[in-house]
Amino acid sequence: MSTIPFIDLAAQQRALGDRIQKAISRVLEHGSYIMGPEVLELEDLLAARVQRRHCVTCASGTDALQMALMALGVAPGDRVVVPDFTFVATAEAVRLVGAEPIFADVDPVTYNLDPESAELAWELPGPSPVGVIAVDLFGHPARGSELELLAQRHDAWLIVDGAQSLGATRDGRSGIARGVIATTSFYPSKPLGAYGDGGAVFCDDDRLASALCSIRNHGADAAPSSHERVGLTGRLDTLQAAVLLAKLEVFDAEFRDRQAVAARYSEAVAGLVTPPRAEAGVEPVWAQYTVEVEGREVIRSRMAEAGIPTCVFYPHPVHFNGAYRACPVVSDGTQVALLASSRVMSLPMHPYLDVSAQDRIISAFQHALVGP
Ligand SMILES: Cc1ncc(COP(=O)(O)O)c(C=O)c1O
Repeated sequence: MSTIPFIDLAAQQRALGDRIQKAISRVLEHGSYIMGPEVLELEDLLAARVQRRHCVTCASGTDALQMALMALGVAPGDRVVVPDFTFVATAEAVRLVGAEPIFADVDPVTYNLDPESAELAWELPGPSPVGVIAVDLFGHPARGSELELLAQRHDAWLIVDGAQSLGATRDGRSGIARGVIATTSFYPSKPLGAYGDGGAVFCDDDRLASALCSIRNHGADAAPSSHERVGLTGRLDTLQAAVLLAKLEVFDAEFRDRQAVAARYSEAVAGLVTPPRAEAGVEPVWAQYTVEVEGREVIRSRMAEAGIPTCVFYPHPVHFNGAYRACPVVSDGTQVALLASSRVMSLPMHPYLDVSAQDRIISAFQHALVGP
């Protein structure tokens, strides 16, 4: 019995191979491998797509977060509120600039940062947080306007970590349009994935944008050979920009195909588990299709026997990891993050899952839930 890939990048390559080959060949011909014309074209298209004045591409979603924090002047001694249920990079970026993450709890339905829990971070003894990083987990935009207000009330800023959510909208507006800065990732399995690492930072403020451009290029100023700040080798390769431009042409069609897969899963599993629910006005991009189950490991191994891989995003709250164990947690704790991390599992999800593969996944999941 064949195994269905969890995310089938080879199927996408078969579908888009020609246009991607041509895009790569153009770069090989002009030879501008660093900051070539494709990088600038991609930045213009992405900024327009998410309705932000500036898009500054960079080498990864983690660099994007680190650059955002550096541009905002976050430094040792500062504290930043982050959700306890996310990929580790959200908190890692805070540590990379020498600041301290404070872990807050998430909403039990969307798994995004719970504004009430985040508010508790201001009650902790010690320095007040300078900002909040919200994550659009699994492709569902966080409650951006509420979190912006929370941040404003405390004279703090909001960054939106949209690594998983390019394409998703709330009330017709991209989740990445929220926050003083928003970021995304082009890690290959993301909704818009490169053939390697990549990321982008979005903002509306011209001064922040010019700081971000400087930071991604060793802190270089407009004047030649002048470096007033410390930066990174943080640029997106032109070859990756060319791949992303080719994939962007089919992004909307892929978005609709993801939605169709998610709708089919939800119809089939309702009654057995609670299907993921989108908040009113939200169109998730379905970076992952994640449900909660009892007896996760048994269910996952039954599905593996049927050739269906599943993943656990994420098996424990971030602050359980050694590097974050000593960081503060809000006074009410992060019980939702803890419970979710013990129960969540994600089914294969990508736009090239044909109906027969969907049927195999659905049937294996139904059988695995019911048992022998
Ligand atoms: C929520 C979140 N933030 C940040 C990142 C980091 O992105 P990258 O892997 O491109 O560094 C990821 C990537 O998996 C992510 O899922």
